[in-house]
Amino acid sequence: MNKLIISNFKSNKSIAETLAWINKFNQIPDSLLASYEVSVAPSFVSLESAAKAIENSGKKYSLAVQDISPFPSGSYTGAISVQNLLNIKIRYAIIGHSERRKYFHETSQDVAMKVEQSLLNGILPIVCIDDSYLEEQLNMISKENLSKCIIAFEPASAIGTGSNADLGVVKGVIQRVRKIAGDIKVIYGGSVDDQNINEYLLVTDGVLISSFSLDASNFMRAIKTIS
Ligand code: PGA
Repeated sequence: MNKLIISNFKSNKSIAETLAWINKFNQIPDSLLASYEVSVAPSFVSLESAAKAIENSGKKYSLAVQDISPFPSGSYTGAISVQNLLNIKIRYAIIGHSERRKYFHETSQDVAMKVEQSLLNGILPIVCIDDSYLEEQLNMISKENLSKCIIAFEPASAIGTGSNADLGVVKGVIQRVRKIAGDIKVIYGGSVDDQNINEYLLVTDGVLISSFSLDASNFMRAIKTIS
C-alpha cells in the first residue's frame, strides 16, 4: 500500500468551509494522488456533501470519520452508528483519538467495540495509541480484528504543540506495536507539517495531520514535499 496521508479536521469547519477546502484541495495533481493514499476526515455533518464533491471531481482520495459508535444501530441517542453512514463512501474510521479519551472519557474497551463495529461494516479502523496505554489498548482488541487495523502513534505531548516526537521514539513504538499485532501498518500523528513529513514517512506507513492541514494549500504542499 502507498503511504497513508490523512487530514483530520477535528471539530473545525462548517459544511461550507469544508466544501471550500475540498474544492481547493481538488487542484492537487492526479499523479500525487496515485502515489499516496490520501484521506480526509471532516465532521460528520459535512461528510455527505464532501463525498459528493469528491465524487464529482473524479479525484482519487477517500473520506474518513473521526469517530464511530461502539454500538450497532438502535437506541443510543446521539451516537453515529455505522448504519447511519451506510450510503456515504467512507474508507477509514479514526478511533480512540487521545482527545476522545481525554474529553469524552473513552476507554480501551470502548475503542475495541468501535473497531468491531467498523470492521463489520467494511470501514478500516485507524486506532490511535500513546505510549502509556499501547499494550493495554492493543491487547483489548481481538487478534483477528487487530490484524485488520492501522495503528496511529499519536503522543498527546506532540498533538497541536509543535513539539513533534523524536524519530527514535517513533521507531521504538512501532516495534512494540508489531510485537503484539504483527506486521500491520503504523502511522504517526503529532505536529506533522511540510518540514518534517519526510522524516516520519521514512520510518512509518503514513501520517495523520490536523493543525497544519486545516488550510488545503498547506496539506497539498505537505504532499508535494514528499520525496
Ligand atoms: P496536529 O494533530 O497535527 O494538530 O498535531 C494531530 C492529531 O491530533 O492527529
